[in-house]
Amino acid sequence: MERFLFPRWINRCLALLGLAAIGGALFTGAMGGLITDPETLNVGYKPEQPVPFSHALHAGQLKMDCRYCHNTVFDAAHAAVPPTATCINCHSPADETGVTSLAAVHQASSKLAPIHESWETGQSVAWVRIHNLPEFVYFDHSAHVHAGVSCVSCHGRIDQMDVVHQDKQLSMAWCIECHRNPAPHIRPSEFVTKLDWDWPEGVDPLVEAEKLIDEKNINPQVHCAVCHR
Ligand code: HEC
Ligand code: HEC
Ligand code: HEC
Ligand code: HEC
Ligand code: HEC
Repeated sequence: MERFLFPRWINRCLALLGLAAIGGALFTGAMGGLITDPETLNVGYKPEQPVPFSHALHAGQLKMDCRYCHNTVFDAAHAAVPPTATCINCHSPADETGVTSLAAVHQASSKLAPIHESWETGQSVAWVRIHNLPEFVYFDHSAHVHAGVSCVSCHGRIDQMDVVHQDKQLSMAWCIECHRNPAPHIRPSEFVTKLDWDWPEGVDPLVEAEKLIDEKNINPQVHCAVCHR
């Protein structure tokens, strides 16, 4: 009985197959690396900051508006992280006379040492960035908050966080899901920084949101060039 023999040229195909398998493994590894990059998709990413600044205290308990510190959020693509001078409004260090011209809450606290040092040297505090889209994505805060999308839709209850963590996946699918159906995330824009705000009793939130969408002609796009320009 004759055995079936593969023709010799099959060997080259096997080599190719092997190469493809290795390439595939490398590709999967690279994509896995991208996808789990804490600076892009990692929900819960919560780096340690140089100063244990608490949003739960300042924005929650003390009820400071987000714009007191992130004052560019309505005007610019980026929501500026505040300069040391903003903290010094309330946390100025003691001067030689022991008398401070500005308010001095917890003046001698070691937790505030990096703030006081920054104030003296003029070197800004090295806050660690948490949310960070890849370079090839365009995002603009002002367009969203003017349309009435609250910080809470994209950042969660920051006003209850002692340490800020990334709350949403910031993936392309996440962006597009809301662009296709924004109504559940639209509120009057004066309430976007009130994270615990809700529609008054008795009104239908979706009906009210649709009214705002018509009035302001809100129409988020999903074509590629909106976010990749
Ligand atoms: C007293 C000043 C102050 C107020 C008020 C404040 N923040 Fe912040 N915020 C900061 C500082 C300082 C940081 C950087 C350190 C940190 O991440 O905790 C920050 C960081 C953040 C970040 C993460 C930025 C990044 O690196 O990705 C978000 C999101 C944020 N704030 C949202 C808010 C929202 C929403 C409000 C209002 C509910 C608010 N903040 C109120 C000072 C403030
Ligand atoms: C409008 C005033 C105000 C501003 C502006 C402000 N804080 Fe505060 N902060 C307070 C008050 C009030 C407390 C104390 C609350 C308490 O102890 O009950 C406090 C407490 C703190 C504490 C805790 C200190 C300790 O020893 O327990 C830190 C840290 C802190 N703030 C950091 C910051 C940073 C960083 C900024 C700037 C991004 C900032 N604060 C801006 C009012 C302010
Ligand atoms: C539609 C979603 C969305 C809304 C609404 C939103 N943010 Fe953001 N925020 C983001 C994304 C996405 C990033 C990362 C941007 C980047 O890497 O370019 C970000 C980053 C930030 C940062 C870091 C600095 C920066 O701009 O990269 C701060 C601070 C911040 N947001 C505060 C706020 C505050 C305060 C509000 C409400 C007034 C708010 N955000 C509303 C999605 C949102
Ligand atoms: C919770 C809802 C929501 C999410 C999440 C969201 N968007 Fe939007 N986006 C909107 C709305 C609403 C508008 C405003 C459309 C208008 O005014 O017509 C908008 C507008 C935009 C615009 C147009 C800005 C301009 O200058 O015209 C860009 C760019 C954009 N979004 C990018 C993003 C990116 C990138 C993400 C994800 C990282 C994202 N959006 C996530 C709701 C959202
Ligand atoms: C509303 C905003 C938005 C729109 C519209 C959009 N993208 Fe993206 N895109 C993103 C964001 C955000 C990321 C980054 C996600 C991440 O960090 O993984 C991204 C990532 C990508 C990537 C990188 C691959 C990856 O998964 O990391 C490609 C390729 C891409 N987009 C192509 C497109 C194409 C093609 C279109 C049109 C059909 C499009 N995008 C429309 C927001 C958008």
